[in-house]
Amino acid sequence: MKVLVIGSGAREHALCRSLSLDPDVTALYCAPGNAGIAEVAELHPVDALDGAAVSALAVRLGAELVVVGPEAPLVAGVADAVREAGIPVFGPSREAAQLEGSKAFAKDVMAAAGVPTARSYVCTTEAEVDEALDAFGPPYVVKDDGLAAGKGVVVTSDAAAAKAHAAACERVVIEEFLDGPEVSLFAVTDGETVVPLQPAQDFKRALDGDEGPNTGGMGAYSPLPWADPKLVDEVMETVLQPTVDEMRRRGTPFSGLLYAGLAITGRGVRVIEFNARFGDPETQVVLARLKTPLAGVLLGAANGTLADLEPLRWSGDAAVTVVIASHNYPGTPRTGDPITGLDEVAALDAPHAYVLHAGTGRNGGSVVSAGGRVLSVTATGADLVEARDRAYRAVARIGLDGSQHRTDIAAKAAGA
Ligand code: AMP
Ligand code: GLY
Repeated sequence: MKVLVIGSGAREHALCRSLSLDPDVTALYCAPGNAGIAEVAELHPVDALDGAAVSALAVRLGAELVVVGPEAPLVAGVADAVREAGIPVFGPSREAAQLEGSKAFAKDVMAAAGVPTARSYVCTTEAEVDEALDAFGPPYVVKDDGLAAGKGVVVTSDAAAAKAHAAACERVVIEEFLDGPEVSLFAVTDGETVVPLQPAQDFKRALDGDEGPNTGGMGAYSPLPWADPKLVDEVMETVLQPTVDEMRRRGTPFSGLLYAGLAITGRGVRVIEFNARFGDPETQVVLARLKTPLAGVLLGAANGTLADLEPLRWSGDAAVTVVIASHNYPGTPRTGDPITGLDEVAALDAPHAYVLHAGTGRNGGSVVSAGGRVLSVTATGADLVEARDRAYRAVARIGLDGSQHRTDIAAKAAGA
């Protein structure tokens, strides 16, 4: 099978790495990709938001499966364009991607499907904002309605800061504060059959101890030794299947990856958000543990044949990923700095630890930073302690001037 992956981050590197290890994959392409992905896939330049350009590329390459990684192309309808060209595509339609593209739309679907989530108000005026903030009280949760790369949410006990964020957005969702640990659970679906993957936990804040601003994600681990073993079954029954069924009922079936961001509260599981794609950095740890070859799973979702898929097989290993980010991320990151130590990790730590590239490029012979999140250093081990040790040992070999990373990824879960 010839597979084309669209995107250029660590999630796409993780997808390409798994696909490159799948014996059914005869050719692997990525567009536009990055310096790390170039080692496992043939790169092609493309504007990932341009459906006509992506489908033309897929046709030209003879792709038999296109995997759309990030949310922006999905919301722009890139999967629709590829599907119209007659090529199976892993990723929802523009309409179904509204589950991520609009928080208000997601709330409406959840209400109709009876999916447990935070109570909320959609507000467009200052008066509505004031009323909603008063109704819930602190801590306040104010979310930009549209796509914001994980940075549109403000959680604060400062009413003035909550109002300022609302005023800076056109439309916001203001909701009840959910207390409790967060879990990311991904499911692959063809619009009808839903196949859950293994849960992971992401670290959204920039600094150790969950301090600092929200980011796209600074690290992740899987499995979650502290979670109820029945969690996946419960979320399947109360969240994933009802949501997929409701989307089909509306005439906008959701196929691809349904990402449930959950809070495990004292009153039960609640959905914090849906995403319409694999999460980053959770994908890095979930795929590190998936033993079933990936291409057939994604093709089953694209073709509507997931009901025929054998149950997924998982490694008993644990996996940890640590994100190395640029100076000043999540503000305006500094780019163009040389990265050192990549060869040492490949020589000394493989196959248990490896570097997935997020925002990198080439400058002459050297690999340089090209984005906010630069690398996602991933490792597996018999348990979280070993996976963590290996990941941080590899992180220590990497040099990037001014870079930052959290030192407490998976620390609590590993009992460290
Ligand atoms: P989101 O973009 O919706 O995932 O929100 C980003 C982060 O904000 C989440 O991972 C949570 O840490 C936090 N958050 C979002 N909604 C809530 C909520 N209702 N209560 C508490 N924290 C929240
Ligand atoms: N890990 C958060 C996200 O992918 O949105």
